Amino acid sequence: METLKFEVDQESIEKAGEIIRKGGLIAFPTETVYGLGANAYDSRAVRSVYAAKGRPSDNPMIVHIAHFDQLEDVVSEVPEVGRQLMDVFWPGPMTLIMKKNDEISDATTGGLDTVGVRMPSNRTAAAFLNSCRVPVAAPSANLSGKPSPTTCEDVLEDMDGRIDGIIMGEQCDVGIESTVIDVTGDHPVILRPGFITAEMIRKSLNIEVTYDPALFMEPDQSDFHPKAPGMKYKHYSPKADVQIVEGDQEKALQIIGELSTKAQAEGKKTALIDYGRDSREAARDFFARLRELDREDVDIIYVYALPEEDLGFSVMNRMLKSAGYNVIHA
Ligand code: TXA
Ligand code: MG
Repeated sequence: METLKFEVDQESIEKAGEIIRKGGLIAFPTETVYGLGANAYDSRAVRSVYAAKGRPSDNPMIVHIAHFDQLEDVVSEVPEVGRQLMDVFWPGPMTLIMKKNDEISDATTGGLDTVGVRMPSNRTAAAFLNSCRVPVAAPSANLSGKPSPTTCEDVLEDMDGRIDGIIMGEQCDVGIESTVIDVTGDHPVILRPGFITAEMIRKSLNIEVTYDPALFMEPDQSDFHPKAPGMKYKHYSPKADVQIVEGDQEKALQIIGELSTKAQAEGKKTALIDYGRDSREAARDFFARLRELDREDVDIIYVYALPEEDLGFSVMNRMLKSAGYNVIHA
């Protein structure tokens, strides 16, 4: 199929919204990463998202809305703590897991009785979701296993010819996927770390927040049972081997230098990703950089680890996955 390229203007966005209502698939920018949207009420459309991505169909999708009024079209109840979080962090890079209502297709939630809901803050995303007039189920717009796309070129690299259209927006500002928070229990539990951190939530709401214990495990551990099904799959894998080096920066760079020299002597092409302590820049750039280095046919990518606190913890979650938890301690 031909993938239509829509510019960011009201008329084009209206056309894209019409395609969603007719059961088609549209990729669109958000502040986190590009999403691949389908009408959340249309099981056939939602199933075609799994096919376009080559994604296992037990992995539930996030439902995107433009207005608070649309919440009741998606969930059966809004817990008090969910309401408090929305008041502070919506629209924005935060997904809340709540009890789903009967209208939302089982295909969207992978058969779960809960659903993830998010109201993005990106203006193009908001205009698009508005024009759809239905809640939009959307995973990240990459082929399953690849890094999430943060530019429209990266979406086209994976999806050109596989989807009905794409809104050709700007590079995503946050650059890693939303924080996924389960609010169905007695306190919020972070299932996937993101730009909205536990520290930010504790500071603004003064409440208890915990992490899914699986976030501190490697997938080959026997008690690794993440509550977000998507966290168990192979993720963010570029063609290149990724190697994380952590510890003192000077020592780490020395080790990377030695390893590179050795690899290059064996005819391999190497690259270094080093954001120092700048987690904000790391979040924005990391996925795009992995894809860029793949296009340059790099064989080994060395990544200097971020401090694992606040946003650094969230970005390291992606870095570790892309490296298959391959870490050298300098
Ligand atoms: O920033 C984002 O969240 C992007 C943009 C497009 O909004 N979307 C995104 O979707 O990253 P996806 O499908 O790549 O990741 C959704 C994550 C998966 O790990 C999935 O298992 C989890 O959210 N999830 C979705 N619904 C869930 C539910 N009902 N219970 C537990 N986890 C859920
Ligand atoms: Mg994804």
